[in-house]
Amino acid sequence: SVQELEKIFQDKVDQEIKIEPKDWMPDAYRKTLVRQISQHAHSEIVGMLPEGNWISRAPSLKRKAILLAKVQDEAGHGLYLYSAVETLGTTRNQTIEDLHSGKAKYSSIFNYPTLTWADIGAIGWLVDGAAILNQVMLCRASYGPYARAMVRICKEESFHQRQGFEILLVLSKGTPEQQAMCQDAINRWWWPSLMMFGPKDSESTHSDQSMTWKIKRKSNDELRQQFVDMIVEQAKILNVTLPDPALQWNAERGHYDFGEIDWVEFWNVVKGNGPCNKQRLEARRKAWDEGAWVRDAAAAHAEKRKARQEV
Ligand code: ACO
Repeated sequence: SVQELEKIFQDKVDQEIKIEPKDWMPDAYRKTLVRQISQHAHSEIVGMLPEGNWISRAPSLKRKAILLAKVQDEAGHGLYLYSAVETLGTTRNQTIEDLHSGKAKYSSIFNYPTLTWADIGAIGWLVDGAAILNQVMLCRASYGPYARAMVRICKEESFHQRQGFEILLVLSKGTPEQQAMCQDAINRWWWPSLMMFGPKDSESTHSDQSMTWKIKRKSNDELRQQFVDMIVEQAKILNVTLPDPALQWNAERGHYDFGEIDWVEFWNVVKGNGPCNKQRLEARRKAWDEGAWVRDAAAAHAEKRKARQEV
């Protein structure tokens, strides 16, 4: 019976045995994985846009090569994740169609503009820093293909974060204009980075179930706190301030206290009304349409090869 199957499934999860594509799983588990992994894949792909904006304007050949490699890494992450979704029985075309129709979500953070070169540093340091904390726990997710994809992704993300920090470190030791540019980027990216972790635990619809299924291992608020504690220390090395007057060490809790996130802004961006939502989706649809001939040619080539082998 379904109850028995569910019990066997949950026992496996509790014993830390990975769930694999052909194993029995509850429909709701499959559905939540498809939702989360596809959102994650879209975030990687849409995330290429704000950074791609600076490839042709990076300040040196070396910076350009590094940024190019990083943006290519993000494409690779998207591809592993789309493959992980396919193992759950949803085609890549369907997943991508859901992004283009506006049905599927992707991380709110990628709907903010990259105005200066320092933004590339701030994205690496703060955005990739936040992404890593979340993804390190996902390396232990109960679904095998997702967990394994995360291991490789985390290694690359660590490099991304270091390169972002290093960009800011150079700027922070530069001219007064460069220092101001560094501070301005941090001022603009700080709050959106905190929003990446999602709504407060009390407002998070999926957390409890995802924790029971061991898809998530830490709650949105726990990870957000861990991020604040980590970044405050690193900001001291950069000699910059974080734009939150409420930020203060709390000896009793052993953590930094911080101010309230603007949740109206968060939901506004999630619902499609952030500064760049329309632009991002348009860019993705355009890339898909313009790439149609490549997909057609690849399919025709595969057909021909197959026909030749059959002779
Ligand atoms: N941006 C957009 N939507 C969000 C965000 C965000 N930052 N945070 C939460 N949401 C959405 C959820 O997707 C969910 O909507 P849905 O029911 O329509 O899917 C809703 O808000 C409620 O949130 P939760 O119940 O807390 O959702 P969940 O348990 O899935 O937790 C989280 C959200 C932490 C983002 C989780 O999905 C996750 O770990 N995802 C994988 C990591 C990821 O996607 N990272 C992307 C950015 S990093 C990068 O790409 C470099």
